[in-house]
Amino acid sequence: MISVENLELVKEKRTILQIEKFKLKQGKTQAIIGPNGAGKSTFLKVMALLEQPTKGKIFFTGTEVTKKNMLSFRRRMAVVFQEPLLLNTTVFNNVALGLKLRGLRGEKLSQRVEQWLERLNIGDLRNRKPVYLSGGEAQRVSLARAFALEPEVIFLDEPFSALDFATRISLLEDLGHLLANSGVTAMFVTHDFNEIPYLTGDVVVLDRGKLIFDGLLKELLEDKVQNDTIKHLLSPFKKFNQIRLF
Ligand SMILES: Nc1ncnc2c1ncn2[C@@H]1O[C@H](COP(=O)(O)OP(=O)(O)OP(=O)(O)O)[C@@H](O)[C@H]1O
Ligand SMILES: [Mg+2]
Repeated sequence: MISVENLELVKEKRTILQIEKFKLKQGKTQAIIGPNGAGKSTFLKVMALLEQPTKGKIFFTGTEVTKKNMLSFRRRMAVVFQEPLLLNTTVFNNVALGLKLRGLRGEKLSQRVEQWLERLNIGDLRNRKPVYLSGGEAQRVSLARAFALEPEVIFLDEPFSALDFATRISLLEDLGHLLANSGVTAMFVTHDFNEIPYLTGDVVVLDRGKLIFDGLLKELLEDKVQNDTIKHLLSPFKKFNQIRLF
């Protein structure tokens, strides 16, 4: 769906990303994990065409991304960040806004919004303002807003890491179903191995701007990988033998 070649991103003379090859596979969910500052968010923004790399090529369904076609590709994607970034208007309007910008009006617009409010179990909140929402509710609105656009690719950057455990699990379960049933391609950034199996078995590990693993979570847990960063990342999880598999 989206692939990169010889990607490099330099900021203030520091190389933040250096990725030779990566493919986000169509219809799949790809988890990205790595320590703080590894470059996960930057990588997500580059893939979502929100940030331009210093070097390298990006291909969207086989076509090289250029300044000219970038906007048309951007319209086929949606992004969900850790902070919901909602506007000070009703939940309904927050979900409707992106659709209005894409030309949807009237009955079609309200049907689409209602459909996604229902799917995320926030129909009752349609007239609520974001300041009166809990963190979990706000993130549901944020997900509804992204899915309502019916994007081909959805990017999620640690969407649930600020939520309490029970809320996180219920959102992960719902998101897992949405991703499995919608056929959308997804890229999901997390720093918690336990979140991955709810959504996918495919994981890449990013460390100091480089991809140090690209494969199955199962393989990562089987002690075959002898990388120190990976061992370090996995150690607290392995201690309690917590991670279930996708
Ligand atoms: N605008 C910028 N200017 C300079 N350095 C930056 C800029 N944005 C990010 N960085 C640096 O790039 C590196 C990667 O940042 P990034 O936010 O992508 O990491 P991350 O893996 O998402 O971390 P976290 O787990 O904390 O969210 C960090 O060292 C960060 O300080
Ligand atoms: Mg980040």
